[in-house]
Amino acid sequence: MANAQAQTVQVLHWWTSTSEEKAIASLSGRMAQENIVWKNAVIPSGSGIGAGIVLKSRMLAGDAPEVAQLNGVIISEWADLGLLQELDPVASSGKWEKSLFPTVWRLIQPKGHPVAVPLGIHRINTLFYNRKIFAKFDLSPPSNWDEFDALAKKLQQAGITPLAQSSEPWQLATLFETLVLSESDANFYRDAFVKKSSQAFVDPRFGRALSRLRSLKKYMPAPLTERTWIATTRMLADGDAAMLVMGDWAKGELNSWGIATDIGFSCAAVPNTANYHLYDIDTLVMLDKGAAARSAQEKIAQIAVSPVVQTEYNQIKGSIPVLRNPELNKMDSCSQTSWKIFSRGSAVQVPSLAHRMATDEISKDAIIAEIMRFFSNDSLSVSDTQKRLAAISRTLPK
Ligand code: GAL
Repeated sequence: MANAQAQTVQVLHWWTSTSEEKAIASLSGRMAQENIVWKNAVIPSGSGIGAGIVLKSRMLAGDAPEVAQLNGVIISEWADLGLLQELDPVASSGKWEKSLFPTVWRLIQPKGHPVAVPLGIHRINTLFYNRKIFAKFDLSPPSNWDEFDALAKKLQQAGITPLAQSSEPWQLATLFETLVLSESDANFYRDAFVKKSSQAFVDPRFGRALSRLRSLKKYMPAPLTERTWIATTRMLADGDAAMLVMGDWAKGELNSWGIATDIGFSCAAVPNTANYHLYDIDTLVMLDKGAAARSAQEKIAQIAVSPVVQTEYNQIKGSIPVLRNPELNKMDSCSQTSWKIFSRGSAVQVPSLAHRMATDEISKDAIIAEIMRFFSNDSLSVSDTQKRLAAISRTLPK
């Protein structure tokens, strides 16, 4: 009987790792209790590059899914085009304005109407370290680059790769943005990646971040290949590398492999970034599929933001709840630190470039392409790269 009422909702997303699938299952399980059948339309691609392309073509073909994962600045662009369902009744009955972090609330209601459902907040400037290796060599997590260099050399002498990494552009960009923050501060970072000020790109602080990226190369696996982020995380888990800079979805993944926080690994901050939260917020949007889909879409929005689902989902995903008053005692040490820093407010919250929080897709891709060019060709100088970036930034949408 119940099935007669069941509503099927297609959800387009890019989550395919063990923890991501479990996180989705926790959401879809909750939806099933409400008679909503959650049908996955998965486009595997770390950081959602392929998913974004497929979603756009499906929109153009008039074949929108009911729900899609759409993160960051693009929410505002799509809202401008009238492509996103407004969720005012759900937001007001759920008191979202009060319960959500102000930064999350601003992100999801760019034009005064909530148009996205926030799931969780990831911290990008996380330095994971393998506890077994650190204990064996009597190392402590580095708080500055001198300490990092010293311990990386020690590890190398012992035949251990200091830093897990992939040459996938988004994974290198994820590392690089933490270096920009490390060499500067939140205001400078925003000048570069949000305002795209040409001055910022030729600034010595930006130059130092480029030099740092190049100098970290010697600590990465050689040859550096385009492994998925799951394989990069596996290097840390298996002790093939001692450290990893990655958003804390890697924590969710390690936990899902049975590797517990503060037993197999711990989280520290990328040197000189401990007081900042370089963030990435996961969100779902609802696309117009007529009145029939509307009630299921609203139900999904309501359930996803409820405190119990927020706790359960974020524990699996590695992120923190989007709520100002979550169940802190149910979080591990990484998430508690992440939550405490994020709650200090917008001055310490820094939007991720690689994960679409800082700027539009074209600008992000143009900047990352230059960083890749610099990284893969050691004969390109820091200052030439800076000049090219400054020239490119003048042509980017502001
Ligand atoms: C991010 C996303 C995370 C995780 C990661 C790896 O952009 O926000 O939730 O999926 O990509 O694919």
